[in-house]
Amino acid sequence: MADSASSSSPAPTRVAFITGASRGIGKAIALRLARDGRHVVLAARSEGPLKDLAAQIIASGGKASIAVVDIADSKSLTDGITKAVAECGRLDILVNNAGITKDNLMLRMTDEDFDSVITTNLKSAFVACRVASREMMRGKFGRIVNIASTSGIIGNAGQANYAAAKAGLLGLTKTVAREFGSKGITANVVAPGYIETDMTAGLPAEIKDGILKMCAVRRLGVADDIAAAVAYVTSDEAGFLTGQTLIVDGGMTMA
Ligand code: NAI
Repeated sequence: MADSASSSSPAPTRVAFITGASRGIGKAIALRLARDGRHVVLAARSEGPLKDLAAQIIASGGKASIAVVDIADSKSLTDGITKAVAECGRLDILVNNAGITKDNLMLRMTDEDFDSVITTNLKSAFVACRVASREMMRGKFGRIVNIASTSGIIGNAGQANYAAAKAGLLGLTKTVAREFGSKGITANVVAPGYIETDMTAGLPAEIKDGILKMCAVRRLGVADDIAAAVAYVTSDEAGFLTGQTLIVDGGMTMA
């Protein structure tokens, strides 16, 4: 009789599609998931940084490919995920990370700036979940993570569009969790607080100091803090965690 070790089939290499992987939080997530043995599909608009990152991951023994997509364009995003599935043969993990800000006080915010942030930060996650969940159902396994923000939980002056989009991700995620839970697919939100990336580089020093004072851990966040949370939420062992929002903000809100 075969022993249990030799009779069990080896775990498949999980394939993870990560949007906004060219820099910042998305890049840190890609490096972390690749280190954890995932095949990472790096998605963003410009090819150059994606190629460089894929080469870096492959050179260190990991598996990576790229998908040049504009997440604000439903067809581009759908085609990018479909092509990645065709190339990799499966899709197990989706990280909807890419996002933009177009901040302004309510009274000055234009319809265009409201719509474009909703399209890029919220509708794209719906589109990606729709195409990815079909493939995940086939594999009877899926881990979806939507990257929201503490702005979507407690609001933020100057970010009506961004906060609305990020809050929308919480409702979307819970709905995905309910619709696909019985198919082995989980969906969760990771909501970062202040993280030092290009997106936040332009904030005035006094605002950063104010945020620092609000953080119980007395430091600002780094992209690896978010990558660590995503690594857990997308792991095989996190199968009983779904419809949740993991706030990673150094104790800034404790919401
Ligand atoms: P970032 O601005 O440094 O990087 C954003 C990434 O998204 C880039 O790779 C960019 O190319 C990609 N991207 C933007 N629009 C795109 C489009 N239309 N199509 C394809 N790719 C597109 O931002 P960061 O700081 O790394 O943020 C990542 C996510 O984390 C965003 O969703 C952001 O809202 C969220 N977040 C960030 C926080 C921070 O303090 N940095 C705090 C809370 C949430």
